[in-house]
Amino acid sequence: MAPMSSSRQFVLWCFGALAATLVLIGILVFEYRAPARRHVLYVVGVPEKGAELFFGQKHCSGCHAINGRGGSIGPDLATIHPARPAMAWLATALWNHAPAMWRRVPNEAPPQLDQEEMAHILAFLYRASASDIQGDPRVGSLVFSLKGCIRCHSVRGQGGNSAPELSKVAAGDSVAWVGAMWTHAQHMIGPITREIGAWPEFQGEEMSHLIAFVSDGQSPALDAFAGETALRGDAQHGWRVFQDKCFACHSVAGKGGHVGPELGPDRELPHSTSRFAAILWNHAPAMVTRVQQHSVAMPTLEGGEIKDVLTFLISLEYFEPSGSPLLGERVFSERGCARCHGPKGEGTSQGPRLRPTPNAYTLVSLASTLWNHGPGMAARAQQLGAPWPTLEGTDLGDLTGFLNDSGNAK
Ligand code: HEC
Ligand code: HEC
Ligand code: HEC
Ligand code: HEC
Repeated sequence: MAPMSSSRQFVLWCFGALAATLVLIGILVFEYRAPARRHVLYVVGVPEKGAELFFGQKHCSGCHAINGRGGSIGPDLATIHPARPAMAWLATALWNHAPAMWRRVPNEAPPQLDQEEMAHILAFLYRASASDIQGDPRVGSLVFSLKGCIRCHSVRGQGGNSAPELSKVAAGDSVAWVGAMWTHAQHMIGPITREIGAWPEFQGEEMSHLIAFVSDGQSPALDAFAGETALRGDAQHGWRVFQDKCFACHSVAGKGGHVGPELGPDRELPHSTSRFAAILWNHAPAMVTRVQQHSVAMPTLEGGEIKDVLTFLISLEYFEPSGSPLLGERVFSERGCARCHGPKGEGTSQGPRLRPTPNAYTLVSLASTLWNHGPGMAARAQQLGAPWPTLEGTDLGDLTGFLNDSGNAK
């Protein structure tokens, strides 16, 4: 490990202590080093708990739906597409839209979100934004014919009979289907390619449509919400599966094998299980060739492992950026924070002193603090005729770096 500056080490310790005290189940600590950058990656927050807050206590669902379930005053939050790093993007979206949200309920106190609640809500929104669509059985029937599956397989009496009838495989369980397809791909590459003339690849949502067709519309979409819980994989288990079954050929952040492409946070991967399953299927022939050349085992994926691996891989895109205190100072003045809090965060008559901070901020705790003080800030901004300080891109990370760096605080 490269030597760390002492302020960075301090921040790492604070993050570590925070993570330990939060006692959250879904904590994944992953160190990522690229030549020009160094991040500490955290997934803190439990999506299922976020779902409870969202639909319950915090009443977000009074205005927002997830996949059509909930209110329609605000946007359906399953349709948002967080850019990377996702946690910062979501926290920024929440902050920037806050005044519009609060205006809708002028007589009610806006819901407060403490750090843990903020972490859960952000984790929940991240997963919700990655849900699969519910496929259309009629489109799926076309997919089944056009890809040539129908030449060997039948579904409810229609099609060939040289291979198993498929209507039972996906019944009620879409994950079992993608697992079965993956397992069988490795034995069938030769015969299928000979029969069809080329390996049938899947694009876009074709896999979701195919699942809807074979299961006769009985299987829920892969990442659909069952009741109020998000059906999603377990990132920590996914990381273990990844090390067992994929690491020999694939690297993450430079660590691991180099037979296949790097699958770390900079790799564009789809967030929905059906699209991910399609990618795995499409690349099966290339993987099988390499398995033979490199005499490694072809990985099978049992039960929910495919979801777990995907959850691990997309969790890498969710890290807290380690912001720059120098950029942060500039952001602090350009976004108008300095107007009320002073250029170095020393405080003015319009806003309290912010540096040195009693406790180092993490992105989540800053997001939570801002959220909770937001109404007070908004009232002050209105008195002064100052605009709401809208944030962009990596601002939150840089602001965190600036507020935590007490070096030049006066
Ligand atoms: C009183 C209604 C209301 C409540 C309650 C509410 N919101 Fe909103 N929310 C809105 C509206 C309206 C917008 C769109 C604002 C705009 O257009 O600027 C929005 C926007 C958002 C956005 C940004 C979406 C985007 O496309 O960028 C997020 C994220 C969000 N809300 C999350 C939440 C969460 C989490 C909660 C619960 C803590 C919540 N909202 C509670 C009305 C509400
Ligand atoms: C050349 C004939 C052929 C074609 C074309 C073909 N398959 Fe198969 N498929 C088989 C055979 C044979 C088996 C059983 C072999 C085995 O178990 O490994 C099988 C097994 C399967 C299984 C596992 C069934 C189970 O009971 O676990 C699935 C799922 C599957 N195929 C899906 C597909 C899909 C989807 C397509 C179209 C993209 C397709 N197959 C195209 C021959 C074919
Ligand atoms: C025997 C080596 C090997 C193993 C084991 C292996 N892969 Fe691959 N993988 C490859 C190769 C080679 C490619 C590139 C295929 C191509 O270029 O078409 C690939 C491509 C991929 C891709 C597509 C990347 C893209 O964006 O195009 C994904 C995703 C992937 N593998 C995931 C996995 C996962 C998940 C596992 C573990 C369950 C795994 N692989 C196990 C060799 C392997
Ligand atoms: C219009 C004046 C104004 C602007 C602009 C402003 N703030 Fe504030 N800020 C306040 C006031 C007033 C409070 C105290 C509000 C309260 O406690 O309800 C506050 C509270 C805070 C707190 C909580 C401090 C604590 O003691 O917990 C933080 C952190 C903060 N602001 C950061 C920022 C950042 C970052 C920006 C720029 C994006 C910003 N503020 C922009 C007026 C402002």
